[in-house]
Amino acid sequence: MTATTATLFSPELAARLDKLVTLYPVRRSALVPMLLYAQDELGYLTDAAISEIAQRIGITELDVRNVLSYYSMLRTAPVGKYHVQVCTNISCMLRGGQELFEHCKNKLGVGHKQTTPDGVFSLEEVECIGACCWAPAVQVNYDFHDNLTPEAMDAVLDQYRKQAGK
Ligand code: FES
Repeated sequence: MTATTATLFSPELAARLDKLVTLYPVRRSALVPMLLYAQDELGYLTDAAISEIAQRIGITELDVRNVLSYYSMLRTAPVGKYHVQVCTNISCMLRGGQELFEHCKNKLGVGHKQTTPDGVFSLEEVECIGACCWAPAVQVNYDFHDNLTPEAMDAVLDQYRKQAGK
């Protein structure tokens, strides 16, 4: 895909994707970063984004879908402005991760992979997010919050709600 070809991405992202495919010995190696950047811009990976990325790399849409279905951080449906991922894997579970997830469900009024009606928060129960030493841990978009208690979690959510102006 050349710079003059129609793209659904912003000019900045299109240029970034053009460059990414040149950085690896095999074009396909650029797939995951391309998907992440596209998701950051669009909020989730639309059919059109999947199609364009497949075209840019020179693989099939099925190849792209096979990869993106493997990674839980890649999504094909919209989420809230703040996507709250609560780890309930072993280290976090032993330090109250499950209770924290239940607390978030009650506080936000939504369940696993659901979004609040105002679109501010979505919630997801996830496997280890690599912050076991500071369990229980939660990731909100790209921010990590650790050593959480239900009270500390309330403060975290209130802070994001304030940022959202709600
Ligand atoms: S088990 Fe929760 S961050 Fe590793």
